[in-house]
Amino acid sequence: MNNRLHSRVAVIVGAGQQAGETIGNGRATAIRFAEEGALLLLVDRDANALGETHRVVVEAGAIAAHLVVDITADDAPDTIVAAALEAFGRIDVLHNNVGIGVGDAPPDKLTDEAFDLIMDVNLRALWRTCRAVIPVMRQQGSGVITNISSIASVTANHIAAYRMSKAGIDALTKNLAITNAKHGIRVNAILPGLIDTPLGVDSAASAIGIDRDVLAARRAEAVPMGHQGTAWDVANAAVFLASDEAAFITGVCLPVDGGQSARVG
Ligand SMILES: NC(=O)c1ccc[n+]([C@@H]2O[C@H](COP(=O)([O-])OP(=O)(O)OC[C@H]3O[C@@H](n4cnc5c(N)ncnc54)[C@H](O)[C@@H]3O)[C@@H](O)[C@H]2O)c1
Repeated sequence: MNNRLHSRVAVIVGAGQQAGETIGNGRATAIRFAEEGALLLLVDRDANALGETHRVVVEAGAIAAHLVVDITADDAPDTIVAAALEAFGRIDVLHNNVGIGVGDAPPDKLTDEAFDLIMDVNLRALWRTCRAVIPVMRQQGSGVITNISSIASVTANHIAAYRMSKAGIDALTKNLAITNAKHGIRVNAILPGLIDTPLGVDSAASAIGIDRDVLAARRAEAVPMGHQGTAWDVANAAVFLASDEAAFITGVCLPVDGGQSARVG
């Protein structure tokens, strides 16, 4: 442990992961936060995946609670805040990791149902969670929120709803940063590029009916550095933004993408 987050209470929303060979962004972030000494409330709708993350961090010596909740439920934000306050009495870090792209398509093919689902999960639920946590942080006079966006928000791509939802997260992040700066709350976004996670590679490969390794190779070719990132790259950026090393950083949308977004635009 390096203790960069020593005794900070961190809520990680989307701390489970889909099964697969690699590690997902949420679980990797939970592990890195634990290594840095954070106290964790782990949140996910998938009880098994969440339980596995909880088991891993507790076995590594972390103090952690977990909560099974679907973040689109009306009462999810209040339930998350109540669970964090009951377990630890405060919230120092809110890390919003959940993101989906189910049914996404180019604008002319996108259905109302897919648009509504993606916007609901990726943007509306994230905003509602921030809205519930911010009064706690304002009362404390301190707090950090990190939202997981995507370079899809700033790069050309054929999918519409995912891009709109992530662009909304970037805009919301800046808005929250400005309106909460005087309250000691920092709000930033991480824009992952092509990351080798089960959701990013295994699910995407099976959705388009190709082999995982074929898709992984294609994704690697699209990155200037010549390889995909790992969830540890995202998690390490999240540790930095949550720590005092980033004390003067707010309103930033930080790409973690091997140079991919630098090549566009
Ligand atoms: N993998 C990539 O290449 C990539 C690229 C850019 C951005 N991202 C973003 O990174 C984040 C994590 O992606 P990942 O691939 O590492 O996934 P992950 O392995 O971190 O899994 C996300 C978790 O979110 C949970 N979840 C989904 N919907 C939920 C809901 N309604 N309520 C509660 N929990 C819910 C899932 O159960 C899963 O455990 C997402 O926001 C994604 O958009 C990923």
